[in-house]
Amino acid sequence: MNILFIGDVVGSPGRDMVKEYLPKLKEKFRPNFTIINGENAASGKGITEKIYREFLSFGAQAITLGNHAWDNKEIFEFIDSAKNMVRPANFPEGTPGKGLGFFKLNDVEIAVINLQGRTFMAPLDCPFRKADELVEIARARTPFIFVDFHAEVTSEKQAMGWYLDGRVSAVVGTHTHVQTADNRILPEGTGYLTDVGMTGPYDGILGVERDAVLKRFLMSLPVRFEVPKTGRTQLSAVMIELDRKTGKCKKIERILINDDHPWYS
Ligand SMILES: [Fe+2]
Repeated sequence: MNILFIGDVVGSPGRDMVKEYLPKLKEKFRPNFTIINGENAASGKGITEKIYREFLSFGAQAITLGNHAWDNKEIFEFIDSAKNMVRPANFPEGTPGKGLGFFKLNDVEIAVINLQGRTFMAPLDCPFRKADELVEIARARTPFIFVDFHAEVTSEKQAMGWYLDGRVSAVVGTHTHVQTADNRILPEGTGYLTDVGMTGPYDGILGVERDAVLKRFLMSLPVRFEVPKTGRTQLSAVMIELDRKTGKCKKIERILINDDHPWYS
């Protein structure tokens, strides 16, 4: 069982990279299931229904979100009918959408859980206790459980990896937009990567125009962040191979495609 996960897609440059490389990645890695984090897909802020459908048409089966999930107000109109979309589960009771999705794949099911960290982020319910609750529900149905932990700090993400080791197939981090090099299989069989990284502009800062970010650091004044429309781009992803019977991780491989890490098919 192979799962391909594409990290935080930023704006049209990120979407173009998914369109160009997802077919190539599928040909090379033959994933049975593809997940995309799409919380920055609409000009860096949230996601629209059109983009959500576009990702499905490109060949993704699940879309995860994060702290920017609500930035484009259109989300409130379609999230409850978007069967393939999973938002952070530890938002308060009554938040639209769902934090755990089950996806049928021939004779098996894949559970996708999205959680959000709390360190240097908005206060939410405890992601660890929410994970306990959802993992128990998921394990009653399937051994294939994928967790996208959308969090700022490396320590909180490592903590989640160890906390869920042996209980889920993989814990991968998103949100920082910088891929970490610590892909590993934890002792009880959970695949782990602190951050998958960003898919979008390669010469911006975390995917947005450099000048605005520099101005903020130099002047400490509020600035408007925009996604560059032109320029070099990159794709960040992770490929996870799971044991067909146990759901445990057998292999976790980072994928980074940009001019400094060119694609070799
Ligand atoms: Fe984020």
